[in-house]
Amino acid sequence: MTRHFLNDLDLSPEELGQVLNLAHWMRDHPYAVKALGGPQTAAVIFDKTSTRTRVSFSAGIAALGGNPLVINPGEAQLGHKESISDTARVLARQVSLIVWRTYAQTDLEEMAQYSRVPVINSLSDDYHPCQLLADLLTVRDHLGELRGKTLTYLGDAANNMANSYLLAGVNAGMDVRIAGPEGHLPSEEVIRAAEERAAITGGRVTVTTDAGAALEKAHVVATDTWVSMGQEQEEAQRREIFGRYQLNADAMAKAADDAVVLHCLPAYRGAEITSEVIDGPHSVVWDEAENRLHVQKALIAWLLVESERADEETVRTVRQAMSA
Ligand code: CP
Ligand code: NVA
Repeated sequence: MTRHFLNDLDLSPEELGQVLNLAHWMRDHPYAVKALGGPQTAAVIFDKTSTRTRVSFSAGIAALGGNPLVINPGEAQLGHKESISDTARVLARQVSLIVWRTYAQTDLEEMAQYSRVPVINSLSDDYHPCQLLADLLTVRDHLGELRGKTLTYLGDAANNMANSYLLAGVNAGMDVRIAGPEGHLPSEEVIRAAEERAAITGGRVTVTTDAGAALEKAHVVATDTWVSMGQEQEEAQRREIFGRYQLNADAMAKAADDAVVLHCLPAYRGAEITSEVIDGPHSVVWDEAENRLHVQKALIAWLLVESERADEETVRTVRQAMSA
């Protein structure tokens, strides 16, 4: 069966551990896994702009022995001149993997439905699951075991990052607290999915408008832009709505003494986060950005192995490293 990665819960708790273990090993052995040897081509399609995602997927696919084919916004017929289902069927006959950054989550689901090669969500309006793999690896590197740790997210609590923190955090057994203003909190559907997964992993879900309470002794503190891609017209209004949820020194004073700060970047200093915090001693955002490369390589190798699309040597190496 072809495996896809469209939202954070597409990996079981056990599989999430496998991908993180594999990423850790592949970081120390950057060219040991040639899951895309040939070279096989991977399509990396962008309907929105990007720095990290473009660079990390391009570099990662090349390091796996493959050829990254980057398609920039507006370059393909996809979505306007040609249906998603037809595009999926054509691409899957020529490439070994599809990575897509787009708007609607349902479009990614349609792509996956018609593709016989793995499809990876590299950001949609609803989720940013590749980012969360990088975030969890970064937290594991700095704080050890994820299970039981408190992860607090402040700011636009209805965006893709908030949803992914909630789902991926509980998938890893964490105590996740999402804080934002009324009207900008995760949907009932996302909260329900998080609670169901938390019941399996021992994670916890808190959604609140009380930033102070959410920050209390938090081990991990995260935020994201108040103006996501596609919301540029609402910038002035949104800066006002989210002002009370800024990640600044006062907010950090409430967190645990050794708390780490995450931000997926790009960051708007002076808006959702102050320079003092992002450049301060708690910040691990540069490790987080680097880890995008390692986790996505691991994810690609893992998906190809699980989809029975990898050569014997890749299968052997991946299986060994992921259970280490
Ligand atoms: N964090 C992240 O996805 O960055 P880009 O938008 O630059 O890819
Ligand atoms: N929430 C942001 C994340 C950018 C990586 C956006 O969607 O623009």
